[in-house]
Amino acid sequence: MKKHILIVPGDGIGQEVTAVGKQVLDRIAEKFNHEFTYDEALIGHVAIEATGDPLPEETLVKMRASDAILFGAVGHPKYDNDPSAKVRPEQGLLKMRKELGLYANLRPIKLFDELLEASSIKADILRGADILFFRELTGDVYFGKRERLEDGNTAYDTMIYHKYEVERIARKAFEAARTRSKKLMSVDKANVLESSRLWREVIQKLAPEYPDVEVEHQFIDAAAMLLIKDPRRFDVVVTGNLFGDILTDEASQIAGSMGMLASASVGDSTGVYEPIHGSAHDITGKGVANPLASVLSAALMLDISFGLKAESEAIIAAVDGVLKDGFRTRDIADTTTDASKILGTDAMGAELLKRL
Ligand code: NAI
Ligand code: MG
Repeated sequence: MKKHILIVPGDGIGQEVTAVGKQVLDRIAEKFNHEFTYDEALIGHVAIEATGDPLPEETLVKMRASDAILFGAVGHPKYDNDPSAKVRPEQGLLKMRKELGLYANLRPIKLFDELLEASSIKADILRGADILFFRELTGDVYFGKRERLEDGNTAYDTMIYHKYEVERIARKAFEAARTRSKKLMSVDKANVLESSRLWREVIQKLAPEYPDVEVEHQFIDAAAMLLIKDPRRFDVVVTGNLFGDILTDEASQIAGSMGMLASASVGDSTGVYEPIHGSAHDITGKGVANPLASVLSAALMLDISFGLKAESEAIIAAVDGVLKDGFRTRDIADTTTDASKILGTDAMGAELLKRL
């Protein structure tokens, strides 16, 4: 199979982990006889530094011309501490999602058995947890009207959803539920928010089209509590942009670390595959970032964008193998880890390649 992949590392550890993700894609191409070609493009702080624009037109053109995108992260402490900055790295990310019509963010929470002890949640509660989140990505409070009033002391954001936005992501979630345990949980705050009442109404109206799927509605606050109380009760979850942002970070603790979680953003055109973590400036340049989220993002790309199931599973098996052999990056190591098996980013990549 011939595919053209755009590598967009972005900022901070995005650069470090995406390099490993690409090596793994390369090895897969070699092993399974595919022809992957690559190009690279700028986004975020590095793009602002080079061009003044967090998402340069050249990057967008390359994105549209590719079959899939392996993305790192955006962000720099410079902006985190300066809320008044007008041009910001995350504008690049939000614009990319909007421009490419990436309305559905899939976040599989897959727990590798070897990491049961790495989580701060008890192993007995976690064992067997396997969740697929569908987080809506192009609506909600992130895209609604916002303003700081002239007196400087008052600000607002608008939580807004249109029926079509809820419907298209709900359909994807219903379809995924069909291929899994046939259960769909929709998360909202319909007891308070009007946009959530619309959300719930749309899900309820669609449900009869999927009679084989059992729908459960939960409020976001209850869902946040249930997620750590009884994660196994979750299977496919569909929720809005803000609630999904928070719930999936919480769920990352089920998988042991942010460094283990991959995501796929799909919609109208080219899919974007990226770790859920950010640019992690506290560890940038130290060579200790966990590359497995990027590697698992590459695996999602092969499966979802290219339909290459066996190739995708080969990557997951390699990750499993590395963990079974006791290798860990710092973020997933614990007191029982053999110190000689705590690896940096590149060494972890090398162990993976050996198993592919
Ligand atoms: P973060 O996800 O970058 O880091 C949170 C914590 O997890 C840090 O202690 C970090 O060291 C650790 N961590 C994250 N990924 C790791 C990995 N692969 N291996 C080992 N440890 C890892 O979130 P934070 O610190 O809130 O934000 C840092 C910057 O990233 C900010 O500028 C923020 O705006 C940006 N950000 C970007 C995102 C994106 O591009 N999708 C998502 C979240 C934050
Ligand atoms: Mg987040």
